[in-house]
Amino acid sequence: MEEAKTNIFKDPDRIRVFLEKGGERGSAEKLARTLGVALTEDPKEAADADVLLRYAKNGLSFESEGQVLRGDFENLRHRLEKGRVDHELLVKAAKFKGEKEGLTAIDATAGLGEDSMLLAFAGFNVTLIERDPIIAALLKDTVRRGTRLRDLSEAAGRMTVVEGDSIEELPKLMDPPDVILLDPMFPAKKNTGLVKKKFQMIYLLERQSMDEADLLKAAILARPRKIVIKRPAAGPFLGDMKPGYSLSGKTIRYDCIVL
Ligand SMILES: C[S@@+](CC[C@H](N)C(=O)[O-])C[C@H]1O[C@@H](n2cnc3c(N)ncnc32)[C@H](O)[C@@H]1O
Repeated sequence: MEEAKTNIFKDPDRIRVFLEKGGERGSAEKLARTLGVALTEDPKEAADADVLLRYAKNGLSFESEGQVLRGDFENLRHRLEKGRVDHELLVKAAKFKGEKEGLTAIDATAGLGEDSMLLAFAGFNVTLIERDPIIAALLKDTVRRGTRLRDLSEAAGRMTVVEGDSIEELPKLMDPPDVILLDPMFPAKKNTGLVKKKFQMIYLLERQSMDEADLLKAAILARPRKIVIKRPAAGPFLGDMKPGYSLSGKTIRYDCIVL
């Protein structure tokens, strides 16, 4: 099995965890330890690093080549407002007719948690599993900040982050969830637009998933009622498995496997 390490670890000397005044020391120390990189509180040393994980008063950001990546649920507000979330294709794919309360979802490829927030806002209790230690740290920070946002705190309170590989974590589940969501990285595209910057940053962190078939197998063995797989609209089926049905949007398709 692949080791849970990011691409930038080809050269760990390029990276520093920077603890600014007001940043969370405990989280910063833990991340530096997990990554095996230096923690600094010196702004000059931080400025010399190529890749910076900055713990500041307002949370964690990942910085590289002048770009900044942070998780942000506030950007999702326009999709969450009254009644709108129920029109989200993901929510339509995940829900069950006539059932609203107490549904559970595992987001087995959580990333920065945006899809999970849509599900949590729609009422699901969501467990978010993320294997990359940097993305997991950004995710925990995002959920923590989410719990302090008046309108999103209830949904963020339904989100639990687990740092680990879903192929190992899914077999440990005590109870089968209602839904498992899978969204491994799409094949990289060459994008130049500003809008795509966030994704370029994510690509710097993420490795191409080489174990999609194992992930799907682990999801099936966890016995959810339904597996929802996010794919590019014209992309191939995950692990070549034909879904029961699909919901298609302009750019995204949700393949649903009902077990
Ligand atoms: C395309 S992103 C997911 C984006 C997410 N749906 C969102 O809304 O932000 C895929 C993420 O899944 C993670 N991932 C891939 N395979 C995984 C596995 N086996 N276990 C846990 N996380 C995994 C990657 O590290 C990456 O952060």
